[in-house]
Amino acid sequence: MTSDQRPIGVFDSGIGGLSVLRALQQELPNERFVYLADNAHAPYGEKSEDFVSQRTHAIAQFLQTQHQIKALVVACNTATAAAIQGLRAAYPTLPLVGVEPALKPALALSTTRRIGVIATRGTVGSEKFSRLLASVQDEATFVVQACNGLALAIEQSTLPDPSHAAQAQITHLLQNYTQAMGRFGSASGDIDTLVLGCTHYVFVENDLRTLLGPNVQLVSTGAPVARQTYRLLAAAGLLNAAQPKGAAPTIRLLTTGDLKGLQAAAQRWLSLPEEACEAVPASL
Ligand code: DGL
Repeated sequence: MTSDQRPIGVFDSGIGGLSVLRALQQELPNERFVYLADNAHAPYGEKSEDFVSQRTHAIAQFLQTQHQIKALVVACNTATAAAIQGLRAAYPTLPLVGVEPALKPALALSTTRRIGVIATRGTVGSEKFSRLLASVQDEATFVVQACNGLALAIEQSTLPDPSHAAQAQITHLLQNYTQAMGRFGSASGDIDTLVLGCTHYVFVENDLRTLLGPNVQLVSTGAPVARQTYRLLAAAGLLNAAQPKGAAPTIRLLTTGDLKGLQAAAQRWLSLPEEACEAVPASL
């Protein structure tokens, strides 16, 4: 087996991609990771596709030149929809993994054939998502809801001293958006499966379960993305055979925005110490 100790790059507009990083760590315990949260430019979901694409290219370039990454995981549905094609063209030899709402896996789970999808406005308005939806539309009814403000509220709820207002805002948005989608449950005509089409939403899974009850299945993409990353690295002979050695930390978390926010999220979701996090220029 090979021993390529270079890190895998992972990025998102903020902390959402930490849900993917968690799955990557489990699937690839011998690998180093460098994670970039582009907090200074978040939320991506309510920005133009051009803007998100520009940020994605700037981040890929930064991670390659400053951190010598051996692969890149775009842990953001919005950035994948806006830029994965362009990235593939710009970095033809870099193994690249994107995330997209798990419509196909949801088909395998749904009995009522009524499937909900929640994602950012950017993702649901993208051409890539339209094509994905068109490819499965004959097999079930998909009820798609853009959730403006939700990713931001999730970011705010993880700050070191989260205000009760942030949690109240999450509850309020989840109630409104799910209500607008219709009835959830397991009876005929109910939505029995909900696709979490934004990596931030994994962090409100418990709130969703409380709201929708035990009969609704929630589908996210962390584990399949991690398996795909493993497959690509293995095929390219880029896996690291043993635990990384030397002083360099296994996981480095970078933010273009507020360091304290990332530190609080890293501690809460990945049990990582503050020292794992550092700030980088917003203009990278
Ligand atoms: N976490 C991102 C996604 O998966 C985007 C959240 C945002 O910045 O709007 O779409």
